[in-house]
Amino acid sequence: MHSVKSTPLLAARLRNVNKSFGDGGSRLQVLKEINLDVRCGDITMLVGPSGCGKTTLISIIAGTLKVDAGSGEVLIFDQDLLKMSTGATTKFRSTNIGFIFQSFNLIPTLTCVENVSVPLLIQGKSTRYAEKKAREVLEQVGMGERMNHRPSQLSGGQQQRVAIARALVHDPRLIICDEPTAALDAKNGTLVMELFANIARSPDRAVLIVTHDNRIFTHADRIAAMDDGRILELHDMDETHPLPEILRHGFHA
Ligand SMILES: Nc1ncnc2c1ncn2[C@@H]1O[C@H](COP(=O)(O)OP(=O)(O)OP(=O)(O)O)[C@@H](O)[C@H]1O
Ligand SMILES: [Mg+2]
Repeated sequence: MHSVKSTPLLAARLRNVNKSFGDGGSRLQVLKEINLDVRCGDITMLVGPSGCGKTTLISIIAGTLKVDAGSGEVLIFDQDLLKMSTGATTKFRSTNIGFIFQSFNLIPTLTCVENVSVPLLIQGKSTRYAEKKAREVLEQVGMGERMNHRPSQLSGGQQQRVAIARALVHDPRLIICDEPTAALDAKNGTLVMELFANIARSPDRAVLIVTHDNRIFTHADRIAAMDDGRILELHDMDETHPLPEILRHGFHA
């Protein structure tokens, strides 16, 4: 057995990744030569000002967005995402990745249980199994009382917890969340972070979180600070340096 500490598995390995939107005069380079390792066993947080490229970066890791042609390397659990067909990427994503969108993306016509069942139904599991599992995970995020409500009947924080349940229901190896606690009060924020911490305790799983929420920085093992399409600092949390330089000096993420 290898020591997990000395050779952590990499959930994601990005090298020299560039991403632009538009072309010609309106071309906007949003990601600039990004290098990043997301380690298993860690909660990694990605911080940075609005518009700096955080959502773009995690969408590339999740395989929902393509990098610029000919640019860099994206390995997810050692699989080369840039060499996979669209169909293979979709299959890989539905097995390995749980994604929580900034805007939740719940399906309005489905109840909570039905929404949370979707990733398992996509994997071909029976409705009976999927709904049983969905109920368990909804309980874990404190939504046991709201199983049969539709998203429009829920508060923002409740919708967020349903979106989190949906991202966890199929036991993915990499959880990626865009602002998972933004709409949550302190109690539910702590509940959700404890769920993530539990997942990241496993040596073959990783949690990657985009956040502006300074209440949850203490839960990070690592913080990557971004600005203007670049990663400026990759900081391992420890006793002596509890925050990255950039956050200690008044960078308002
Ligand atoms: N599909 C797109 N087409 C054109 N420009 C885009 C597109 N998606 C994002 N951008 C631009 O890329 C930049 C980075 O956007 P991104 O959503 O990654 O920022 P962010 O760091 O997640 O910001 P926020 O904290 O506000 O969510 C922004 O300037 C945005 O306008
Ligand atoms: Mg964003």
